[in-house]
Amino acid sequence: MLKNGPVPRYYQLKEIIRQKVTSGQWNPGAPIPSERELCEQYGLSRMTARQSITELVNEGLLYREQGKGTFVSQPKITQQLIQLTGFTEDMQARSKRPGTQVLNHAMVAADAATAAALRIKPGQLLFKVQRLRLANGEPLAIETSLINFIGCEHLMDEDLGHESLYQLLEKKYGQPPLEADQELEARLAGEDEARWLKIAKGDAVLLIRRTTYTDRNQPLEFARSVYRGDKYRFYTRLNRK
Ligand code: GLP
Repeated sequence: MLKNGPVPRYYQLKEIIRQKVTSGQWNPGAPIPSERELCEQYGLSRMTARQSITELVNEGLLYREQGKGTFVSQPKITQQLIQLTGFTEDMQARSKRPGTQVLNHAMVAADAATAAALRIKPGQLLFKVQRLRLANGEPLAIETSLINFIGCEHLMDEDLGHESLYQLLEKKYGQPPLEADQELEARLAGEDEARWLKIAKGDAVLLIRRTTYTDRNQPLEFARSVYRGDKYRFYTRLNRK
């Protein structure tokens, strides 16, 4: 039974459910008890139980399936926003198996936005690769990278389905990615994105634009990535000076 007091009952139930999920008592993908069961167990009205569940669905901790019930969501990947890392190292740090499917690669002429980011003339030829990035076989992101340095056309011969771009740039080409500017923006998945990412069209995704610099502040990569909104959480520590 829940307590009567200053903490609203729907909120108490929310925290009980959250505790069951974070403690691992309720596993990702498993159904949670029905509204009726929760009402009986905690002595609540149907409306109160529904409010708790709806808020947890909105927070992403639970998800509903039409006609089937409510389930525990898969945990998200927490990605820090302080250090410059690449996808392969991010997954390895989490003991996940990184995977890559190259969707296309080519030498292309820089458009105006790319030219501005990479500080080159529009029309200059660059290496472009679009990759689907996976963790343990599950698609997480679509990344489109435009790379500029003298000799970047040799990247056409690399096997980017199996090798890390950042490791190649650093170890083989002497172009270590050292710093980056990055922006994050909310978006809805388009049809092609949804198909590759195995989500529904219109689902939430995060659009990330990154300009990566090598030494002497020389722009190396302009990347546009679309990350699944249901899989990622970004974290940064803020200081008040
Ligand atoms: C991140 C960045 C991309 C970068 C990639 C390199 O995911 N968002 O801009 O291209 O890492 O990853 P990897 O070294 O695994 O190819």
